Amino acid sequence: MKNLPRLLSLSCVATVWAQVQPFGVTRPIVEDCGFNGTVVCVNKYAAVLPYHFNRSISNSKVDYDFRNTSDQNATTLDLLDTANFVVFDRQRGLQYLGPNPSYEFMFAVSPAVHEAPVYAPKQNLLFLSQLAPPTGQLPQLVVDLNQNPPTLNEYLPNPPIYAPNGGTFRNGLIIFGASGGNDSLGGIEQRISIRTVDPATNSSTVLLNNYFGFYFNTIDDLSIHPTTKDIFFTDPYYSWYNGLTDTAPQLPAASYRFDPETGAVFLIDDSLEEPNGIAFSPDGKTLYISDTGAVSGTIDPRLGSQGATFNTTGKRTIYAFDVTSNGTRVSNKRAFYLAQDWVPDGLKVSREGLVLTGSGHGVDILDDVGQLLIRIQTNYTVQNFAWTGQNLSTLWMMGNNGISRVQFNITGQTLT
Ligand SMILES: *[C@@H]1O[C@H](CO)[C@@H](O)[C@H](O)[C@H]1NC(C)=O
Ligand SMILES: *[C@@H]1O[C@H](CO)[C@@H](O)[C@H](O)[C@H]1NC(C)=O
Ligand SMILES: *[C@@H]1O[C@H](CO)[C@@H](O)[C@H](O)[C@H]1NC(C)=O
Ligand SMILES: *[C@@H]1O[C@H](CO)[C@@H](O)[C@H](O)[C@H]1NC(C)=O
Ligand SMILES: *[C@@H]1O[C@H](CO)[C@@H](O)[C@H](O)[C@H]1NC(C)=O
Ligand SMILES: *[C@@H]1O[C@H](CO)[C@@H](O)[C@H](O)[C@H]1NC(C)=O
Ligand SMILES: *[C@@H]1O[C@H](CO)[C@@H](O)[C@H](O)[C@H]1NC(C)=O
Ligand SMILES: *[C@@H]1O[C@H](CO)[C@@H](O)[C@H](O)[C@H]1NC(C)=O
Ligand SMILES: *[C@@H]1O[C@H](CO)[C@@H](O)[C@H](O)[C@H]1NC(C)=O
Ligand SMILES: *[C@@H]1O[C@H](CO)[C@@H](O)[C@H](O)[C@H]1NC(C)=O
Ligand SMILES: *[C@@H]1O[C@H](CO)[C@@H](O)[C@H](O)[C@H]1NC(C)=O
Repeated sequence: MKNLPRLLSLSCVATVWAQVQPFGVTRPIVEDCGFNGTVVCVNKYAAVLPYHFNRSISNSKVDYDFRNTSDQNATTLDLLDTANFVVFDRQRGLQYLGPNPSYEFMFAVSPAVHEAPVYAPKQNLLFLSQLAPPTGQLPQLVVDLNQNPPTLNEYLPNPPIYAPNGGTFRNGLIIFGASGGNDSLGGIEQRISIRTVDPATNSSTVLLNNYFGFYFNTIDDLSIHPTTKDIFFTDPYYSWYNGLTDTAPQLPAASYRFDPETGAVFLIDDSLEEPNGIAFSPDGKTLYISDTGAVSGTIDPRLGSQGATFNTTGKRTIYAFDVTSNGTRVSNKRAFYLAQDWVPDGLKVSREGLVLTGSGHGVDILDDVGQLLIRIQTNYTVQNFAWTGQNLSTLWMMGNNGISRVQFNITGQTLT
């Protein structure tokens, strides 16, 4: 009560100062970092912007990222527009970019979601999927890295796999999270499942297709624990929203561990609204899972699929968890990173322990405490990405309308 008059007098002072710019603006706010404008550095994270600034809110049709922040008193923000890499931590960011970072737009593709990239090192092929409508969920795609320049072709394993939404590599086999189901897909019944493909023969099998008789909801993304080789996966509701399955969700959105040797499935978390990307640190002691609940829809079996919409105040956070007891105990959930753009979709950890996430029109690169070091900027929404090549130092990114390639000094974990 005693403080009340004081607060009132402060607000009077604030009124008098309304036209004065804040102290603490570090200029230049953005500057060229030595690669002819393709790499720019943001000083002090642009922590204080001069007035008046405003960033429009994205919606399901249009994405406004940090580049789209308007501020007539911060003209150097315009340098962001043409940059491929935005460095937020100059010392570590430039070291991780290396002496010759490159960004190349490789293939224009359909507006469908492009997902589940998996690199088969022996064949030097990069497999990925296209989740339509309109073009249908079969076939998948494959990038042939033995060609120069690489070529993009359609791909059908035998039997075909419907709507892979996540992919990784385990014991020489590709593991896909197949995210849809109905009675006749490629002539056979398929349900939401974990599938394998042998890249030597292109033949596919099913490892898991139910939880005690219930269909899974989406099996979105998956990650292999580096020492136990158990398959950890997320199961949000997207296949129902997007019409990829003809059955309404039968299980709560959740994340699981699956041991293919015993067939046992273990619930590891049911607190995220739409668990999506999932990835382990190289030592297997930290698990990251993103919650993309900001993109969500309604579940009403009578109405069928109604699509999903974006809500800026919804969940778009990566959480970190401790993994202990030989990969069997997942605990100590904590917020790790709030996406600066759209939702943190694909999620992978580099060999250096950096956490990468596809969020809207780019990929954010974070250290192990969630500090943003670099953003790769794209002109399309990135769903996921995978490293390729002998040294796993090329990163292929894919999403709606585009596939592009980055070469830098950040390398992928070896998947075997
Ligand atoms: C910048 O562009 C100039 C002229 O095209 C070229 O000579 C120079 O090597 C480029 N510098 C870098 C760092 O790419
Ligand atoms: C830019 O800053 C000046 C000086 O503080 C201020 O008067 C002006 O309104 C600002 N311009 C915009 C567009 O906000
Ligand atoms: C921010 O920009 C949007 C789009 O131009 C506009 O609708 C909104 O009123 C602006 N808000 C502020 C606070 O400037
Ligand atoms: C956001 O900024 C980028 C780079 O300037 C531009 O290409 C894009 O059209 C802008 N997006 C919107 C929705 O205005
Ligand atoms: C590449 O990154 C590593 C750290 O992971 C660093 O030690 C090395 O100096 C970097 N290489 C270059 C060429 O910058
Ligand atoms: C099953 O999915 C395929 C491919 O999307 C579609 O053509 C077919 O109509 C679906 N069948 C049913 C019963 O929903
Ligand atoms: C498997 O598919 C790949 C990519 O289409 C192809 O290059 C390869 O020849 C196929 N392998 C077999 C055994 O058919
Ligand atoms: C850890 O798990 C793996 C596979 O799940 C098993 O082979 C191994 O014996 C376990 N190690 C310990 C110490 O329990
Ligand atoms: C977005 O979510 C908030 C709760 O976080 C809710 O209050 C608001 O109505 C939602 N907006 C839309 C447009 O659905
Ligand atoms: C993105 O940029 C590339 C060229 O760099 C262009 O070919 C492509 O059409 C653009 N895609 C979109 C969705 O604007
Ligand atoms: C992989 O790294 C080794 C050692 O640094 C280098 O000699 C080789 O050229 C690299 N290969 C590729 C394909 O970049």
